[in-house]
Amino acid sequence: MSLYKVSIDNIEVEVEPGTTIMNAARKIGGNVVPPAMCYYSKLEGSGGKCRTCLVKVAQTSAVDTRPMPKLVASCRTMVQDGMVVQNITSPEVLDARKAITEFLLINHPLDCPVCDQAGECDLQDLSYEHGLEETRTTEDRRTFEPIDIGEYIKLNMNRCILCYRCVMVADQITDKRVHGILNRGDHSEISTYIKQAVDNDFSGNMIDVCPVGALTDKTFRFKSRVWFTNPFDAHRDCPHCSGKTVLWMKGKEVLRVTGRKDKYGELEEFICNDCRFHHKEVTEWVVEGPRKIERHSVISQNHYENLSDDKKLKP
Ligand code: SF4
Ligand code: SF4
Ligand code: FES
Repeated sequence: MSLYKVSIDNIEVEVEPGTTIMNAARKIGGNVVPPAMCYYSKLEGSGGKCRTCLVKVAQTSAVDTRPMPKLVASCRTMVQDGMVVQNITSPEVLDARKAITEFLLINHPLDCPVCDQAGECDLQDLSYEHGLEETRTTEDRRTFEPIDIGEYIKLNMNRCILCYRCVMVADQITDKRVHGILNRGDHSEISTYIKQAVDNDFSGNMIDVCPVGALTDKTFRFKSRVWFTNPFDAHRDCPHCSGKTVLWMKGKEVLRVTGRKDKYGELEEFICNDCRFHHKEVTEWVVEGPRKIERHSVISQNHYENLSDDKKLKP
């Protein structure tokens, strides 16, 4: 199969037909990659909801050299041979991203100081890079009380950006979906069916895929800011999943267990609830060593070399 040549921000890359602009950009890496708040490569059908990944197609293909009339969602648009794409080199794209960020924040509380997601939140990063310093809205925000959806997950709907990732995890990873997006338009909200709780073996992955602090781990809530914890790769023999996780430690105490995320904030593998919620003793794990956090984050500011010897964990 012959490869398609695509140029993104003046960098050429060759990809297979059927590749999206987003994945072609990910092949190049760095700043060329558009932000993604709803696309998740491991979830089939994800993307196309948040519009943060809009790019400009300055030339449609080698045979059709016209630009596309509107900005397109890079996670949903396939490349064509000879396509020319602009991401950060297009002022129009950067303007649109600002507007999308403002739109995503219209009802958002931006209560990062009391939000468990702070420090590893895609919306926080997006707001920092593209947001306005002050809100321009004066209208009341729609508000909800935080609720428990199941034994381990707290839903704070005020922070939800309706990306659908948690719904897709429930559909594709667990054996029974009992929650979804109810109502339409401005009334849309994540909810469980009446009195149903999310208690599937793999439901904890919803917490990891949520790009914001709408779904948080009840066993970790308010225990620590993430940047005061140190992530370590660890594994155990697990009959349900690969058992490969990250232990978020304070000293030798395991405060939280999550899946391992790549530089795009996506899980390398989904892990089971047993590993995530029921094994909080370091002796239950084989600790491999400190995890390098590849995305830019305050967590990366934790320098292991500054830990005193008795606090250092050795693989
Ligand atoms: S979800 Fe993200 S942006 Fe919103 S309050 Fe939490 S950390 Fe801040
Ligand atoms: S709760 Fe989180 S994962 Fe689910 S739709 Fe809202 S933002 Fe997305
Ligand atoms: S990441 Fe493409 S629309 Fe959300």
